[in-house]
Amino acid sequence: MGSQFVIWLTGLSASGKTTISLQLATKLREHDFKVELLDGDAIRNELSADLGFSRQDRREQIRRVVYLCKLLSKNGITCIVSVISPYRDLRNLAREEIRKVSPFIEVFVKCSLESCIKRDPKGLYKKALSGEISNFTGLQDPYEEPLSPDVIVNTDSETVEECVDKIISAIKIREEPVSL
Ligand code: ADX
Repeated sequence: MGSQFVIWLTGLSASGKTTISLQLATKLREHDFKVELLDGDAIRNELSADLGFSRQDRREQIRRVVYLCKLLSKNGITCIVSVISPYRDLRNLAREEIRKVSPFIEVFVKCSLESCIKRDPKGLYKKALSGEISNFTGLQDPYEEPLSPDVIVNTDSETVEECVDKIISAIKIREEPVSL
């Protein structure tokens, strides 16, 4: 096992996962970590265009992300994953699988559904509320909150910088060899 790790951000759409990932990646790169971002939207565009949002398809999406994490981890690359990953059992499976090759840090990006609906950067909540799209997480589909994540960041009340600092602190506590 090298000095890489997998940071898995889970949370509702528009909770702030991607924004936090980008700043976290910048900070880790400043400390000479090799970092790759695995973002749900990007992966769906590039690799998972065949998948929708049924439980089965979300499971397949997670399986592909886990595979990518393992490939990258084996080569010393730290992965920052931002996928809704709404099902607890599938996140646990991801953890078990990834832990075979790399330390795994689960971050719950917490944000009230009301704030996500207000933010709605992609206009998807509006579409889901009007019935234009179905199975939308938090509305017609469940989001199972993590029961014991390694880190909880609350984007209703914390700045992006505060969230990133919290995650870095958790990495420092968890991983002795990591020097940040
Ligand atoms: S996951 O549930 O399979 O982990 P993932 O993170 O890959 O989801 O993709 C979520 C993104 O897909 C959202 O940020 C949003 O842009 C888009 N999306 C489109 N339809 C849905 C839907 N029904 N539920 C959730 N996200 C959706």
